[in-house]
Amino acid sequence: MNLTPLIREITDADIDAVVALWHAAGVAKPWNDPLRDIAFARREAHSTVLVAEIEGRVAASVMVGEDGHRGWVYYVAADPTMQGGGLGRAMMAAAESWLVGRGVWKLQLLVRGDNDKVKRFYEHLGYADTKSSCFQKVIAP
Ligand SMILES: CC(C)(COP(=O)(O)OP(=O)(O)OC[C@H]1O[C@@H](n2cnc3c(N)ncnc32)[C@H](O)[C@@H]1OP(=O)(O)O)[C@@H](O)C(=O)NCCC(=O)NCCS
Repeated sequence: MNLTPLIREITDADIDAVVALWHAAGVAKPWNDPLRDIAFARREAHSTVLVAEIEGRVAASVMVGEDGHRGWVYYVAADPTMQGGGLGRAMMAAAESWLVGRGVWKLQLLVRGDNDKVKRFYEHLGYADTKSSCFQKVIAP
């Protein structure tokens, strides 16, 4: 990476840029409201969104949190014009530090079954496929 990113917690002023980043990187999904997701992650101290700022612009993100047992990350995204330059690694390292600082010792994440490229990225960073299935149910409207 040519420019060292400033990795910090999201502020209100970053929200539009983060949503735009998620759309550009393909992590925004029609069934998730990104504004609601950001607000929900920021509502309490056990989760947040970290951003990488380069020359005043939001270049990457990770949503990180802990559920009382494990750490989780979502919305791992780098600006498509800057992918391959170390931002993804930097965001995962920042998420790991955030969790370790709170006493969390295992981090897990979900990758769609057909997303082999992203699986290889996480494997390269030392993550192992647990071969588990994710079960999900909507429990409130
Ligand atoms: C996945 C993503 C966040 C990775 O960010 P990135 O900035 O492109 O990745 P980096 O440049 O930091 O790569 C980190 C390391 O992983 C390696 N890597 C990246 N993709 C890889 C792949 N498909 N296979 C093998 N290694 C890979 C890089 O070579 C690099 O290695 P090094 O640090 O040892 O030199 C980014 O590509 C992205 O935003 N993709 C679209 C959104 C997405 O799919 N997010 C994940 C949702 S689960």
